[in-house]
Amino acid sequence: MFITFEGSEGSGKTTQARLLYEYLLGQEYPVVLTREPGGTRISDKVREILLDPSNTEILPRTEILLFSASRAQLSDRFIRPHLQQNHIVICDRYADSTMAYQGFGRVLDLQTLRIITDFATGGLRPDLTIYLDLPVEAGLQRRRGLSAGGATGRYGGQLPLFDKWDRLDAQELDFHRRVQRGYEELMKVEPERWHKVDAGRSIEQVQDDIRSKVLPLLEDRP
Ligand code: TYD
Repeated sequence: MFITFEGSEGSGKTTQARLLYEYLLGQEYPVVLTREPGGTRISDKVREILLDPSNTEILPRTEILLFSASRAQLSDRFIRPHLQQNHIVICDRYADSTMAYQGFGRVLDLQTLRIITDFATGGLRPDLTIYLDLPVEAGLQRRRGLSAGGATGRYGGQLPLFDKWDRLDAQELDFHRRVQRGYEELMKVEPERWHKVDAGRSIEQVQDDIRSKVLPLLEDRP
């Protein structure tokens, strides 16, 4: 079973992916956790280029190809081998991020992106995608709070793994609104693959919601 987490900035996606991973591990499920961009040695190097705030001259096309390069490596070197061993793979962001951020956010051709993405993944798609839904303003605010000085408010001391302010986060509010609309469009096309979660609630409530979706699916596993 291949589960991905998607959502806009500050939605708590990374925290929730980790909590689900830890819970399943505690229940003795064979489960692994990874993230995009990154997750393999080569992909982590590509991640550094992508998220370096000084790399302002990266073109949108370059950006897509770098995300895709990272994803190709992760799909073939990490995700597929684990799935072949019947492991549960949880991935913090995957191909839908490219459709939402580059396609809708940067307004690049969706059909081309689909082709590039399928080339990178060899057509590997998630069985389930958890979408953490939070108004853009609330997400950016959470994110700023975290970047400015540690855990506040709802996070209650449980910092997401990757909370640093980066180049992509510095984009305009409008960009993030387009990304969010993009996710809504993607969900409309494949409603059966997505599980949309209201991320404005407490960490525990959101996690309970996610588990109540995932656990029955795991019970049906061969
Ligand atoms: P990251 O530090 O992982 O942030 P987050 O906690 O929000 O996931 O940075 C990933 C950034 O890269 C994030 O702003 C979304 C963006 N992104 C894309 O634009 N396209 C992609 O294909 C992927 C995987 C990520």
